[in-house]
Amino acid sequence: MSNSEILSSLKLAGKTAVITGASRGLGEAMVRAFACAGVNLYLIARNDEKLQYIKQELSNYDITVHCFAIDLTDERATKEVFTKIAAYGGIDILINNAGKMTAKPLAFIKKEDILAQFEINTFAVIRCCQFASRLMIRNGGGSIINISSMLGEYGQQGQSVYSASKAAVGGLTRSLAQELASHHIRVNAIAPGIINTQLISELSDTEKNNTLNSIALQHIGEAEDIANSCLFLASQWSSYITGQIIGVDGGIHF
Ligand SMILES: NC(=O)c1ccc[n+]([C@@H]2O[C@H](COP(=O)([O-])OP(=O)(O)OC[C@H]3O[C@@H](n4cnc5c(N)ncnc54)[C@H](OP(=O)(O)O)[C@@H]3O)[C@@H](O)[C@H]2O)c1
Repeated sequence: MSNSEILSSLKLAGKTAVITGASRGLGEAMVRAFACAGVNLYLIARNDEKLQYIKQELSNYDITVHCFAIDLTDERATKEVFTKIAAYGGIDILINNAGKMTAKPLAFIKKEDILAQFEINTFAVIRCCQFASRLMIRNGGGSIINISSMLGEYGQQGQSVYSASKAAVGGLTRSLAQELASHHIRVNAIAPGIINTQLISELSDTEKNNTLNSIALQHIGEAEDIANSCLFLASQWSSYITGQIIGVDGGIHF
């Protein structure tokens, strides 16, 4: 099968997706993958310049792209964005990808850093699920994909707060999948391992090497590995999968 045959077999062309944290890293790779699959896009992040640059790069695709430069920790701004999206006709896919990691032992982490991580990694995800699922219920179904972390599943020293904020996303995903199943909305999470983006610049070389030694496939993942898993979870190929936390981590073991 050629790449274009694989993409068309996903049957995502003409669907509409919201991708948060679309300005770089995993989110940017998701944007490019979904654009290739013919999905109309709503991109959310704070950096408008970067969003506009990405939109410009997608101008050759036969899709519509809207950018919203907002801080997702701002509830009112988020609500306004989803109100605009509702007016445009709603969405089929939500990818809650925006996130933040501050690696510090619990004894040294400041209250502001604790709150900041929960604000974006957990509360913003809950809010987007709430706003998006209302639109999906109206449209008769959809797929929600939350990007959690393998640290939310296994934990790691120096990552107590980040791990806790991501573990909450696991609980949200499992519960919401049950709540929304009767509305034909599937809810899953991807728990990435260690992936080559700006976010892991927070880790020390020792932490990176320790993690590398615990990856069965013996290499750090690329953003496209996560983007491809999102395509699968958004598509008909995963139509019987909901409430799952899927590790995309090269076989990480602790
Ligand atoms: N990379 C990894 O190894 C790894 C592993 C496990 C889990 N993850 C998770 O995967 C997701 C993406 O990570 P990444 O590696 O791509 O991180 P990244 O390169 O730091 O990108 C984070 C994205 O989130 C956006 N963002 C952050 N705070 C925001 C806010 N308050 N409002 C709106 N947008 C915000 C950023 O855009 P702006 O700065 O423009 O707002 C950026 O687009 C995160 O949830 C992360 O926890 C990553």
